[in-house]
Amino acid sequence: MVIEPKIRGFICLTAHPAGCEQNVINQINYIKSKKAIDGGPAKVLVIGASTGFGLASRITSAFGSDAATVGVYFEKPPAPGKPGSAGWYNTAAFEKQAHDAGLYAKSINGDAFSDEIKEKTIALIKKELGQVDLVIYSLASPRRTNPKTGVAHNSVIKPIGEVFTNKTVDFHTGVVSEISINPATEEEIANTVEVMGGEDWAMWIDAMKEANVLANGVVTVAYSYIGPALTEKVYRKGTIGRAKDHLEATAFEINDSLKAIDGKALISVNKALVTQASSAIPVIPLYISLLYKTMKAEGIHEGCIEQIQRLFEQRLYNGSTIPTDDKGRIRIDDWEMRPDVQAKVDELWKIADTESLKSIGDLAGYHGDFMNLFGFEVPGVDYTADVNEVVEVSGLV
Ligand code: NAI
Ligand code: NA
Repeated sequence: MVIEPKIRGFICLTAHPAGCEQNVINQINYIKSKKAIDGGPAKVLVIGASTGFGLASRITSAFGSDAATVGVYFEKPPAPGKPGSAGWYNTAAFEKQAHDAGLYAKSINGDAFSDEIKEKTIALIKKELGQVDLVIYSLASPRRTNPKTGVAHNSVIKPIGEVFTNKTVDFHTGVVSEISINPATEEEIANTVEVMGGEDWAMWIDAMKEANVLANGVVTVAYSYIGPALTEKVYRKGTIGRAKDHLEATAFEINDSLKAIDGKALISVNKALVTQASSAIPVIPLYISLLYKTMKAEGIHEGCIEQIQRLFEQRLYNGSTIPTDDKGRIRIDDWEMRPDVQAKVDELWKIADTESLKSIGDLAGYHGDFMNLFGFEVPGVDYTADVNEVVEVSGLV
């Protein structure tokens, strides 16, 4: 069939297999253009492996370090006449490339928050890999059913304590407007922590430790975000920030629990990027379009793959101590947070409106990246061609 984008706000209901495949190949080629990661991981579990930072982590492990990878994700398989989700096609493309390169790659599609998927993943690792030496935790989800209580929780993106009013942009039309978001209730805060906090990460690591599938010296990393003062009321000091505070605190607990096997739990604070998760957060798309413009002008713009390549090469596997901030976090958002970059974004923010954004912001870059997430507007792909929407993931268990 010929597949066209069907956009509904910050989601696209269709995805293009050839575009997704090209995106994955481009990321693989980027990793191959870099030198191999010395002392990199050998057997890796990526939880949230099909898109964004998780996919980039899987690609970097496989093609930068020849690692065997197991990916866990929650994606919609295609059916005749009905395209699957982007993460499905990304994984199909990744596993095809990995298998062609002689690399072990298998995946599990299902709810990572459930006991069932944890058990299934652990059984697979036990049987086929024995143990893993790196566990990447890269889930982004609007809901979670807690397996211990059976309660389903929904996260919200709201400020805490007071109404937040600021500028935002509709990244499809370029219209800048003001939005006000009411503060979250205590219950909404608690629910957001349930979904995006660290409890599930700890459950994964506990279950894996219990089953003896974590190698001696194992490293586990979860991704966090901080961002500037500009977005802090809706992000870092809002509901999602509370969840990230919890995630970061959980890193210390997991770290203690891994001491017996010389393991480490780490947080990596990553850069703001266009992903399915971040495009749903108000204000952030405007910030990102000003940030992209500024970082591109400075020659320091990075996407997920560049971020994760640098994380592996210069932080996790740098052959020496892993540099962290005063809260023990790896900072790969260092270029985003550079004072000169933030001063420039602040200056642009003050004058940003529908008219000025056309020249001071990188809305085209934002919009293009958003379309790319779903395999659209990828250079070199013929979108008029008939493609087979039913694509299999070769390593699916
Ligand atoms: P994403 O939306 O691209 O990826 C989310 C992944 O989680 C996908 O593989 C998806 O299939 C999987 N997933 C979601 N619910 C699941 C479930 N119930 N069971 C199994 N898999 C499930 O998101 P992104 O942006 O890569 O986010 C990953 C992490 O990085 C998050 O913790 C996010 O907060 C963090 N981060 C994101 C930044 C950004 O600007 N996008 C910046 C810094 C950190
Ligand atoms: Na991810």
